[in-house]
Amino acid sequence: MTEDLIEMGKKNAAIKAVEDNVKKGMVLGIGSGSTIVYAVKEIGRINKAKNLNLKCIPTSFQSYQLIIDNKLELVSLDQYPEIDIDFDGADEVDLDLNLIKGGGGCHVQEKIIASNARKLIIIVDFRKKSRNLGENWRNGIPIEVIPMAYVAVMNKLKEIGGSPILRMAQKKMGPVVSDNGNFIIDADFGIIKNPSEINNLIKQIPGIVDTGLFIGMTSSVYIGQKDGSVEVIHQ
Ligand code: A5P
Repeated sequence: MTEDLIEMGKKNAAIKAVEDNVKKGMVLGIGSGSTIVYAVKEIGRINKAKNLNLKCIPTSFQSYQLIIDNKLELVSLDQYPEIDIDFDGADEVDLDLNLIKGGGGCHVQEKIIASNARKLIIIVDFRKKSRNLGENWRNGIPIEVIPMAYVAVMNKLKEIGGSPILRMAQKKMGPVVSDNGNFIIDADFGIIKNPSEINNLIKQIPGIVDTGLFIGMTSSVYIGQKDGSVEVIHQ
């Protein structure tokens, strides 16, 4: 039952986010995760039905496949460095619309695409909204790291107050390897009251590619509720 409500929340929020924002000829960033699947289906549907000539840039191998499967035009950031809208999911959203992302290990490319978009529109269900990051998402901050540096980076993360673990693969022995060939560390910093400060501290450690903290990047959040409605919060 709860699973059904979650999926309904993701779907309703995705459809509304697409309906409210997508216009003919736009260049779109396509995020990663389970929620974005609903958005890409809707983007594919209206692209065909209304002949919108949309161009889509992926943020992961998963979103590359989604773009192709939904018969959308696949383009690259090199060709279209100015993105109109980037649609993505999130693991947690705080009251200032800061995000934790990277539950699916795709946050490095997601952040690059988001940082080149005029608008970042986040689509989530009712479980993801928190007062502070780290309240509902208890898996820690995803951090992509160059493989040869991971032990040194974990030690330094401990020195600055984190509890890091190396993310392990589920159906293969050994660590998760990102789309960029790197490892992912999940570092628990408890309740994060100052995400910008923590992000800056983490990013000073050599060997870290980027974190899953998205600070001050979000334009709007679409939150699918249990009753079928969609709450929209603009920055
Ligand atoms: C991928 O690495 C993540 O940043 C996802 O965007 C995030 O984990 C949300 O995923 P779900 O939509 O599956 O919750």
